[in-house]
Formats: sequence, structure tokens, C-alpha cells
Amino acid sequence: MKNKVDRLRVAIDGPAASGKNTLAKQIAKKYKLLHLDSGKLYRYFALQVYQSKDQKVNYKKLKQALKKLTLKKLKDKRLTTEPITKIASIISKKKRIRQMLKKVQHNLAYNPPKKFKGSILDGRDIGTVIIPDAHVKVYLTASLNVRAVRRFKEYKKLGINTTLSKVKSDIKRRDYEDTHRKISSLKPAKDAVLLDSSFYNTKAAFVEIDEVIRNKIKLLNATKHKSL
Ligand code: C5P
Repeated sequence: MKNKVDRLRVAIDGPAASGKNTLAKQIAKKYKLLHLDSGKLYRYFALQVYQSKDQKVNYKKLKQALKKLTLKKLKDKRLTTEPITKIASIISKKKRIRQMLKKVQHNLAYNPPKKFKGSILDGRDIGTVIIPDAHVKVYLTASLNVRAVRRFKEYKKLGINTTLSKVKSDIKRRDYEDTHRKISSLKPAKDAVLLDSSFYNTKAAFVEIDEVIRNKIKLLNATKHKSL
């Protein structure tokens, strides 16, 4: 289908290991959207904290690190390690951290480089806080068991030595932290499409969301939506 919609914005939220990232990547590829895994931003800050002598949050240093941030830096393998995952979960509760990262996310969501036809961001608060006017919002979840097994297999492939029960308890703790924090807590946006991928694979999730996006684009093109 010819995609006449110029600057499509898609938000995907959900708990850890729900498959958001895989889904977002596939959609980004199909619709030529800039993809940002917003969790990587919190991980990038976590890496700065981890590398500091006292392992404390230093806003001045984070500000400097933010200036040097490039999308390439978010591909750093160290960002997915266990200590960084833990620190990211803790610092993401801080209002100032969220404010600093909101600007970056906003810029990329609303002004992606010209070669992209829009943007897709995945995270915890994309549809609720970062892109409240996203054209399509998805809330992707799956049972704790399914998510833990998925993440455990990924770790195994990467050669990370851990156990299923440890992966499961880590995800459970992060779920708790994400859903119970005071600001930008994890919850579906009111207008999000809810998808539980416990019983079907990422391909099926893609097919379903792809249809939602195609219908939305048709509708937007037909009504010549003013914001486009
Ligand atoms: O998505 P990922 O697991 O990589 O995110 C790392 C951490 O960053 C999460 O545990 C969560 O606390 C935080 N995060 C967030 N808001 C987002 C994305 C991630 O608070 N939009």
C-alpha cells in the first residue's frame, strides 16, 4: 500500500521482555520509521553512573554525556549487562532524569531525520507521556513466565551465564518498580491497542499491529488529518 502519511508516530509500551523491541524494529523497517528503544537511554545514563567512582547520579556529568549521545552509542553491548539493567531501573524513578530524557525522545519522535517517514518509540511511558498524540499506540504484554523464558533464551544466545529463576525474579522486580513509581508509571494509554503475546509469537503480533497501522493510515489519508 502506498503510504502517503508523512510523519507517522507510533508508540509501543509494555513491561520488560514483552517483545516490544522486536515488534518496533519490524514496524520501523516496513514503514521506514526511525526506531528508538527508549530503555536504551535510561541504560546509557545507567552506564555513566556505573562508570563513576562513587556510582552516584551526577546531573552535571549526565548532561555532558547527553550532549555526546548518538544513536550509535545506544548499540553499546555493555548497556544490556545485568548491573546496568539494575541501575537503569532505579534511576528511571528520578523526575530530573526523566525530564532530561524526555527532550531527546520528543526531538526524535516529532522531528526524525528527513530520510524517515516518521517515528516509532518503545518503552514504558511513550503513549502516555512522551507521544500522547501518537497515531497508533500499542500496549504489548505477556505473562511473567513467557517473558522470563524469552529473556533467558536471549541471554543464553549471548553467552550470558544466568538461571531462569534469576531472570524471572529480576523481571518481576522491574515490573514492580515500573508500575509503582510515582511518575510516568507503566500503564496502557487509554487509547492503546492491547496485545497479550503470551500465546502467540512475534510474527502474529506483527500481523495484528500491521493491520492496525494500515487502517490508521487509510483513515488519516481519507480524512486528510490536519496534524499531518
Ligand atoms: O526497556 P528496558 O528494559 O531496556 O528499560 C530499562 C529500564 O529503563 C526499565 O527497567 C525501566 O525502568 C526504564 N524505562 C523507563 N521508561 C521507558 C523505558 C525504560 O522507565 N520509557
